[in-house]
Amino acid sequence: MSDMHNLLEKVYQTNDLTKEEITYLLVNITHADREILYSNALKTKQTYYGDKVYLRGLIEFSNICRQDCLYCGIRASNAKVERYRLSPEEILACCEQGYQLGYRTFVLQSGEDLWYTEEILVNLLGAIRKSYPEVAITLSIGERSTDTYQSLLAAGADRFLMRHETATQELYKRLHPTMRFEDRRACLSALKQLGYQVGAGFMVGLPGQTAADLAEDLRYLKEFHPDMIGIGPFIPHSETPLGAEKGGTLEDTLALVALARLLIPDSLIPATTALGTLNSQGRELALKAGANVVMPIITPTSVRKHYALYENKICGDDHPEDCRYSIEREIQTAGFEADLGRGDSRKFVVGAMGSYQ
Ligand code: 5AD
Repeated sequence: MSDMHNLLEKVYQTNDLTKEEITYLLVNITHADREILYSNALKTKQTYYGDKVYLRGLIEFSNICRQDCLYCGIRASNAKVERYRLSPEEILACCEQGYQLGYRTFVLQSGEDLWYTEEILVNLLGAIRKSYPEVAITLSIGERSTDTYQSLLAAGADRFLMRHETATQELYKRLHPTMRFEDRRACLSALKQLGYQVGAGFMVGLPGQTAADLAEDLRYLKEFHPDMIGIGPFIPHSETPLGAEKGGTLEDTLALVALARLLIPDSLIPATTALGTLNSQGRELALKAGANVVMPIITPTSVRKHYALYENKICGDDHPEDCRYSIEREIQTAGFEADLGRGDSRKFVVGAMGSYQ
């Protein structure tokens, strides 16, 4: 057997590879090898989660951000963005609409907008919890103090998404002039320690990013063992310093999704909107390469186009119900079954996988 086939077999059988092995695999993988990788990732997903694909309603409640990440369309110094902020009442109305559509997980995402103080967020979470005791509430609001994370958890949040973005310190520094690598890591560890279900993740195809950097991302995820892993292609936004750079490719992103499934087999992995934006088949292909979550956007249509982390984002003009149905069709076409339930991580389902862990 060739080295490549040994590695593909090793990761499928043992869910482990060294950084050097991952790098070798990423650099040398052929078209035919990719098919083996995707199909092994799909089988691994099916062992842990069957054919279910979990749906989460995504509410992008503010595009105001104090950070200035070089890749991001809503970075603080992009003066061309029309900024918006939904009031707690508007967010609640959006949850109600999502609930009526059948969603039982809400993801509340925003730029790093400190207008939403701990107190405002605690009250909002309390109100959501009161109306919908059984839903899972996910926050994706960036870096706050451990005390604030603790209060938000106590107020009813269950999960927190915060991509690590890149596990290479040097690259992180270059892309995030207003942030610190160590702070990001510390936030992720604190969230996990406090008892949140935590999502981490990264972009593929960032300017200057190498196969070794991507291998480092996967090794970090393997060690950190988050519940959720978001992986999407970098898509250049013209109003950012990286506007003229090349973006990530479909094939590279799919390979990383498949490897994440094989290395962290019990994780929840979304077929990201960015992948769906890059290629109309992107999300379906991700589901066939190990992803098992889709996050339809339920942000009010009136503000949706302003939440542009990158340009030409799909579902921009859809009404929330259309977005749900088009995604459900995509999931069924791919041969899977949409599930609107909470879709907890296997790590948190009591009795899941017998004595697994
Ligand atoms: N292309 C793709 N993904 C992006 N994100 C931010 N900007 C871009 C872009 N230009 C991702 C980041 C962030 C997540 C919410 O969106 O990884 O964590």
